[in-house]
Amino acid sequence: MKVIKKILISLLVLGSFSLASSSDMFLLENAKADFDGKNGEIFIGTPIKIIKDIDDKMVLVEISGVSFGDELYSSKGKALLVAKKDGSFVEKNKASELGFVKVEAKIEKSYLTKNVKEVWEEYEEFYYDMCTSCHAGHRAVTHTMLEWEAILQTMKGFAQLNDKEENYILRYLKANSKDGFYEKRAD
Ligand code: HEC
Repeated sequence: MKVIKKILISLLVLGSFSLASSSDMFLLENAKADFDGKNGEIFIGTPIKIIKDIDDKMVLVEISGVSFGDELYSSKGKALLVAKKDGSFVEKNKASELGFVKVEAKIEKSYLTKNVKEVWEEYEEFYYDMCTSCHAGHRAVTHTMLEWEAILQTMKGFAQLNDKEENYILRYLKANSKDGFYEKRAD
């Protein structure tokens, strides 16, 4: 009987672990966010940890990044913007080493997806449309964020991108790069 109890308990513990990790989601598009009463925005592709449901429409989430005043970046290099708000990201949150913080925000559930491919579908299509007329497409994950910045400096002329198109492609490439949102970070 004791053994069975132990097994049941460990199953329960395991079960709750897998629930926790399956609650990780991604932001489907740039979303308005309420950071403890302060307005802000979280940007497309950001990995999101669900804290709890608020009601049918809203959910409390956690995001993380390196804070620079009212901006939050994915790394110290400030290459990939995670979120912005009206006010500093550090004041209310205990800053750990390197300015890395975890921040809670309320957002609408409709902005969330479990499928990271869905987030970047249109971006990816545009990227391959614009960047494969002279050579095969280089997968985003084959370069770092800073390498992509440098490459785009040359290639934007080749592909005749305007600034908006350049930023659009750059967001996609950086988020999916070697040191972007979904791979192990370099710094
Ligand atoms: C008009 C033709 C043309 C277009 C369009 C073009 N490229 Fe290139 N690309 C080249 C040529 C030529 C090279 C090799 C010479 C060089 O590196 O300058 C190259 C090289 C590259 C490299 C390898 C660079 C390295 O250092 O390894 C990458 C990555 C790349 N391009 C990405 C892109 C991206 C992203 C786009 C779309 C924004 C793009 N290319 C659009 C012609 C093009």
